[in-house]
Amino acid sequence: MLTSTTTMFKKCYGKFAIGALNVWSMEQIHALFSAGEKSSSPFIVQMTPVARNYAHSEMLMGIIKAASKIYPKAIFATHIDHGNEQHVLDAISSGDFTSVMIDASHDSFSDNVYRTKAIVEEAHKKDVAVEAELGVLSGVEDDLSVDEKNALYTKPDEVDAFVQQTGCDSLAIAVGTSHGAYKFSGEVGLQFDILKKIQIKLPGFPLVLHGGSEVNINEIQRINNSGGKLGISAKGVGSKELKKAINYGVCKVNIATDARLIWTRVQREFFRDTPELFDPIVPGKTYMEDLEQFMIAKFDLLGSTGKADLFKYN
Ligand code: 13P
Repeated sequence: MLTSTTTMFKKCYGKFAIGALNVWSMEQIHALFSAGEKSSSPFIVQMTPVARNYAHSEMLMGIIKAASKIYPKAIFATHIDHGNEQHVLDAISSGDFTSVMIDASHDSFSDNVYRTKAIVEEAHKKDVAVEAELGVLSGVEDDLSVDEKNALYTKPDEVDAFVQQTGCDSLAIAVGTSHGAYKFSGEVGLQFDILKKIQIKLPGFPLVLHGGSEVNINEIQRINNSGGKLGISAKGVGSKELKKAINYGVCKVNIATDARLIWTRVQREFFRDTPELFDPIVPGKTYMEDLEQFMIAKFDLLGSTGKADLFKYN
């Protein structure tokens, strides 16, 4: 059943968080919906404009609509991740999305306010919620790339003015996470002092954590043992940090890299271990099963397992 991120965040604030998986394929959508249904966990299925271009927006949404029939107990919201005006307005007018993210975080504060406010006005006419971003994450996400020196933590002193002036419904903040598999290699971690100050300025307001992947070292090692050459110093968000962030108002945790790493490991091991095979269904099935298990464990960690019932009558 489709529900809105607004409803989700009202119910989960301070208690649990909603996992938001970036999808680009049928296998991922199967895995996510199946995991959500098995765990009785609400979730967000989201896609970047690059993923929409790759698969075609109609194709991805068609698969999501099919998944909602195949997994009738799944409770989910649909979201556009990192859109510009064109992507977001297109998504709003499609009627298929319960929320959109306008990413003007690379602009000045006033330009970010101006662009976000304009989208909020359009989105709210159609009952679509808007996620905005303040602060700049480092790392690589599709066609966006920001190096560490240009990353900026969200300034707590700016958040309440930003939310008031834009009318956005949730705020993505930069508090030490980064996008992609090459995350901070040091011991930087989540900046809880900043997160705490943001929550004090925005009590009860839903915050979004981008860069939520853990970048499991076992996955990296398995990829490298089967021919990959990924760096081994990357550090994602640890389980304890993720759980702790929920207490500070983080309601949505974005995950893309971990799903990419599982895909890469599955394909590499398939080619290494069964060179005589040429059947895409074999690694495709393994990917669905492994991603499903990963999401089931993630829902547990985020505390959303068993919470689907909260949304059934909204
Ligand atoms: P990861 O790269 O850590 O998976 O983050 C994804 C993300 O934030 C998508 O917006």
